[in-house]
Amino acid sequence: MTETIAFIGGGNMAASLIGGLVASGHKPGAIAVVDTDRAKAEALRRQYGISNANSATEAVRDAQVVVLAVKPQVLQAAVHGLSLPSGSAVISIAAGIRIDSLRRWLGPQVQIVRSMPNTPALYRAGMSGLYAPPETQAGAREAAQYVLGAVGETCWVETEPMLDALTAVSGSGPAYVFQLCEMMCNAGIALGLPADTARQLATHTVAGAARMLSDSDEDAAALRLQVTSKGGTTAAAIESLENGGVRKLYNAALECAARRAAELGDELDRS
Ligand SMILES: NC(=O)c1ccc[n+]([C@@H]2O[C@H](COP(=O)([O-])OP(=O)(O)OC[C@H]3O[C@@H](n4cnc5c(N)ncnc54)[C@H](OP(=O)(O)O)[C@@H]3O)[C@@H](O)[C@H]2O)c1
Repeated sequence: MTETIAFIGGGNMAASLIGGLVASGHKPGAIAVVDTDRAKAEALRRQYGISNANSATEAVRDAQVVVLAVKPQVLQAAVHGLSLPSGSAVISIAAGIRIDSLRRWLGPQVQIVRSMPNTPALYRAGMSGLYAPPETQAGAREAAQYVLGAVGETCWVETEPMLDALTAVSGSGPAYVFQLCEMMCNAGIALGLPADTARQLATHTVAGAARMLSDSDEDAAALRLQVTSKGGTTAAAIESLENGGVRKLYNAALECAARRAAELGDELDRS
């Protein structure tokens, strides 16, 4: 894609996306950023050679694709008074801001895609969900796929509420994995290991298992069965987890996350 991409907001996620785009060959001169914190936009200009605009209007002037990368609470103010030409592709990564609100604020002429990336995008190992309403044309969908694809894997969902379920799995997901690592480490300490040894073991076990998952054709259940011999140590631990209701707990936890995502969306809709 050669179109000019404007970023409104130049914080953590925008910096990851810009870094990913430049690394994948997008011309730095075809990327513009505006941030109320001038120092952030200037740092991005120096690091990647992109353009640094003084206002959102200036940033989007030559852009065919606009990425909304400010916090949800300030998005409406950030796009206030912005006039985007018909057919502009707008990709919002702001959690919880619904398509209807975006259309109300930007006008019916723009082609909107909503995305929910996750934190590993900072390492270009992200998992981003994407949703576009039926009226969004192929060009805008391709642009969103291109921008989010620069920081990892992408997947499309068919309905907007599915983004709440996706948020529960992949948006909040890295925290569950960090918690798992933390619990394995603490359990190792309780078994008598020195803290730094337990931490090293847990961290590299989680990282190694994640690598097996991403590199293998087998799914998680199959990999788990492969390393669980009948009557062995792993089987004893897995049985204990199953008896303790770990699956029920996860179902309930992700239900809470999805419900919270929907509630936050409602709150932002009303604000
Ligand atoms: N980080 C993640 O892992 C993640 C995951 C999924 C979705 N998201 C979404 O991505 C969006 C950005 O998140 P982030 O972590 O990158 O946030 P961030 O680091 O706070 O970046 C947002 C930037 O936008 C600037 N800003 C505020 N108002 C502005 C305006 N009117 N015009 C231009 N720039 C403005 C902020 O400046 P100030 O600091 O001076 O206010 C800040 O530099 C959020 O909507 C979030 O929901 C993030």
